[in-house]
This record gives sequence, structure tokens and C-alpha cells, in this order.
Amino acid sequence: MTSSVQSGPWEFLREFVKSPTTTAAVGPSSRHLAAEMVAPIPGKGDPVVVELGPGTGAFTEAIQRRLDGRGRHLALELNARWAEVLGEKYPGVEAVCADARELPDLLAERGVRADVVVSGLPWAAHAARDGRTLVSVIAESLTENGALTQFAYTATRWAPPARRQLGDLRASFDETVISRTVWRNLPPAVVYLARRPR
Ligand SMILES: C[S@@+](CC[C@H](N)C(=O)[O-])C[C@H]1O[C@@H](n2cnc3c(N)ncnc32)[C@H](O)[C@@H]1O
Repeated sequence: MTSSVQSGPWEFLREFVKSPTTTAAVGPSSRHLAAEMVAPIPGKGDPVVVELGPGTGAFTEAIQRRLDGRGRHLALELNARWAEVLGEKYPGVEAVCADARELPDLLAERGVRADVVVSGLPWAAHAARDGRTLVSVIAESLTENGALTQFAYTATRWAPPARRQLGDLRASFDETVISRTVWRNLPPAVVYLARRPR
């Protein structure tokens, strides 16, 4: 039987109840937040775009629309069911059930580096492991002029894990810009755009 994932609130809520720190949201992001997240993807050429924590595909859809058949789109999702369904729904996406930490190996296997990383990952995924932050692992996987987008809910932006995450971005990238609040998202969020890995 083919598994099916509805992108509605119940699907997210169910996964949130099963695994709150990994899912870390009770609903998918809005198309308004998605538009801000995918803005750094170049409008020309064949960029390699990596999506981390795609969930039910709120950003996947926007990335696919922006690429419009160009480049490459690799998506790493820890939830096996969501990864499987994502691959079925978007044939243009290489959906892999993997931890975001495996990114360098997965890119090396394909012989590419990422031009843009779009991350929907929760705080829990960012905890330092083996003395390394996830942001530094991502930075290492990007091209010289590469960019990373990550969102943060405005209500929890000042909590210690969120501040640590912003500190990690500033330590690993030349420039980190914070967007205006995207109010048309539940809950409202900002997007961190980090450019040029150090
Ligand atoms: C807050 S949800 C975001 C989903 C989607 N991008 C959105 O904005 O609607 C976080 C997603 O990250 C996934 N995730 C959590 N930790 C991960 C990890 N270490 N590697 C890959 N995916 C992870 C979760 O399974 C979940 O799908």
C-alpha cells in the first residue's frame, strides 16, 4: 500500500505528538514563509539546492517552482514516512531519509557542493555533536558564494537555543541578515539568510 501524507494540520500534529522535539511544529509553514526561504535560489543556471527537514513539503513545493526543472534538489528528512512520500510526490526531488549531519557524505557521493541550503530544522537538530555545530557542517558543504536560509519563530527567538543558533550562523558565515517578520505564518517567523561560508 502506498503511504499517504496529508499536508493538513492533523498530519503534523500526529507526528508532533509522537516526536515533539524532532517535528518541532504543530503545522506546516505557510507559502509566505516559503517564498522568503527560497528567495536566494538563483533565477538562472543549474544550482544545487539542499533542503533540510522538508516535512510535508511546504518549502519543497516553492523550491521546485523556483527551479522549474533546472539544477538539482536534494532533500534530507529524518522521518522515514515523510521522506518516502516526498519522493513519490515530487519526482524531481532526491528525497533521502537521513540526518542532516550526513550532508557532507551525501554530497560527496554525488560529487557536488550545495549552492543554497534551505533549512526547516528544529533547535534539537542544531545541538553541537562531537564538538561541532550543525551550522559549521552545513557551511562546509556550501560553495564559496553559497547561502543558507533558516527560519525562527519570533516568539521564541530570544530563547537560549535560538540565540545560540544565530551565534553559530555569525561564526560560520561572512554575513547573516535577518528578514522582517513574516506575519502570515503560524506562528509568525523571521528568516535568517547567511551568505559566504568562512
Ligand atoms: C519544524 S518541521 C519543518 C517542516 C517543513 N520544512 C515546514 O516548514 O513546514 C522540522 C522537520 O525537520 C525534520 N528533522 C528534524 N531533525 C532532523 C534531522 N536531524 N535531519 C533531518 N531532518 C530532521 C523533522 O522530521 C521535520 O520534518
